[in-house]
Amino acid sequence: MSSLQAATALLEQSLRTRRALLGRTRTGVTRESLARLSQAPNAGLSQISNLKSEMPSSARLLALNEAVRACRKCEHLAAFRTQTVFGIGNPNADLMFVGEAPGFDEDKQGEPFVGRAGELLTKIITAMGLTRDDVYIANVLNCRPDMPKGSTGNRPPEALEMQRCLPYLREQIAIIQPRILVALGKTAMTGLTGADESMSSMRGRWFSFENIPLLPTYHPSYLLRNDSLSEKRKVWEDMLLVMEKLGLPISEKQRGFFRSGS
Ligand code: URA
Repeated sequence: MSSLQAATALLEQSLRTRRALLGRTRTGVTRESLARLSQAPNAGLSQISNLKSEMPSSARLLALNEAVRACRKCEHLAAFRTQTVFGIGNPNADLMFVGEAPGFDEDKQGEPFVGRAGELLTKIITAMGLTRDDVYIANVLNCRPDMPKGSTGNRPPEALEMQRCLPYLREQIAIIQPRILVALGKTAMTGLTGADESMSSMRGRWFSFENIPLLPTYHPSYLLRNDSLSEKRKVWEDMLLVMEKLGLPISEKQRGFFRSGS
């Protein structure tokens, strides 16, 4: 069964459940909208958006992921990728992290932030008293930026690549409607908003994306390169701001993390 068929099956089940729960037939999900979805294997974003109020977030994300998997807007990236790397996590998350692009590990595994930077991001999320399943994690780019044959590292995405891929991120944000967005690193922040200041001047300040509070902070790979207590503390202070805004409980121990002497 393809993901699209799975999304359609999910929708039909949701329709049946709602009918059973509400005892009436007017759910907003129509046979026509299901047919539209199933007849459009390369469903465009507008088709998915049009179904917005009719489908559960998980089904809309599945349909959007299908569109991403079929995307060849950047032919050089489509030719290079092992697979596309779509966002992952809670489809109704209050908190959404946005990174720049999949790297080598993410391209191989098909999941964002699974390499060393991802392990550090997971530690940060855990220190906040959350799990990866509580939040949603996505990237501005859904493809690994291509590298010259034989070279190993990763490169940051280019402006045009981010511009082409941004509609998919916008759509994920529109579906999930998180209460807070965190941009991981300057590239992600620039890709999202066009802001072109240094991260040291942006971090710790609230911005806004589509009326959602947006906090930029250092990318976890920056912390892997600069693992001094003072830099870790800056990211942690940013996460405390996020926790406060979300109304999450903060213990004295959490408040003290990465203070010198602690
Ligand atoms: N860096 C990112 O920005 N995103 C990933 O998914 C992994 C590393």
